[in-house]
Amino acid sequence: MSFEPFRVRVPATTANLGAGFDCLGLALTLYNDLEVHPSGMTKLAIEGEGAGSLPTDESNLVLMTFQKASQLAGEDLPPIRVLCRNRIPLARGMGSSAAVLVSAAIAANRLLGEPLTKHQILQLVVNEEGHSDNVAPALLGGLVVSGLRGEEPVTHQIIPGRELKIVLLVPEFHLETSKARQVMPSSVPLTDAVANIQNTALTALAFASGDYSLLESSLDDRLHQPYRKVLVPGFDAVLAAAKAAGAYGAALSGAGPTLVAFSLDRPEAVAKAMEAAYTKEGDGSCKTLILDVDKEGAVVEELDSQ
Ligand code: HSE
Repeated sequence: MSFEPFRVRVPATTANLGAGFDCLGLALTLYNDLEVHPSGMTKLAIEGEGAGSLPTDESNLVLMTFQKASQLAGEDLPPIRVLCRNRIPLARGMGSSAAVLVSAAIAANRLLGEPLTKHQILQLVVNEEGHSDNVAPALLGGLVVSGLRGEEPVTHQIIPGRELKIVLLVPEFHLETSKARQVMPSSVPLTDAVANIQNTALTALAFASGDYSLLESSLDDRLHQPYRKVLVPGFDAVLAAAKAAGAYGAALSGAGPTLVAFSLDRPEAVAKAMEAAYTKEGDGSCKTLILDVDKEGAVVEELDSQ
């Protein structure tokens, strides 16, 4: 089968936003590209993040997702050459695995003649990834509130009412989500659960209305951060530095170890303060990123034939 080469571009995401554990996720303007070209045989190469460390054989997440999508659609995929241009740091709480899975599911769907709806793609990837809070914004863009109706993901997209800068402090070390979930208790006091419900609703409303002053208290979390922060040296110091430098607030990005802060007009000062605090109290080196909110989610672009 012949087809025109194409690229699937998928954004990084920051999940939870403090209190919205497993519920809120925001798409960011940092992207992984998955390029797909016709070929005599299927092969995959990786550039950037994960090059040399991620597998390129059939145990690669992209090729495994191609197989799942092909089984779901009941059709075989043609042989292809895949190039992953990865820019989202791995195992840092920025949605790298969700981005890879979303890009692969969309690419497979295109190759199969688009038999799957966007909702079926969401469901396929959530089943694989386990959590909708990274997957849904990677697919849709903006801030996405997500949950489950039975086994089915339910989502609502909010395009922020006003521009906001997202500042990320990305430590050098990796932290697997599974490890960050193991340190959490299996039950929490009702007062903590209530505080998180209140703050999650306020955070979603802050983005919907553009009243970001709500974030000054709504990022406070009692469900996961108090237990996870032992895994991220410098956690308290970096969050305090971000606020002192003018951020509305800061939180663990996804399961960490990246820390995320939100600022309207002082992102450089916030990034500098976070980096200084991490350098003093953290563990190893780090980098900072200043990003915008991605509003489009995953997109497919044609490539020139080569
Ligand atoms: N919400 C997940 C967690 C990470 O904090 O463990 C993103 O899916």
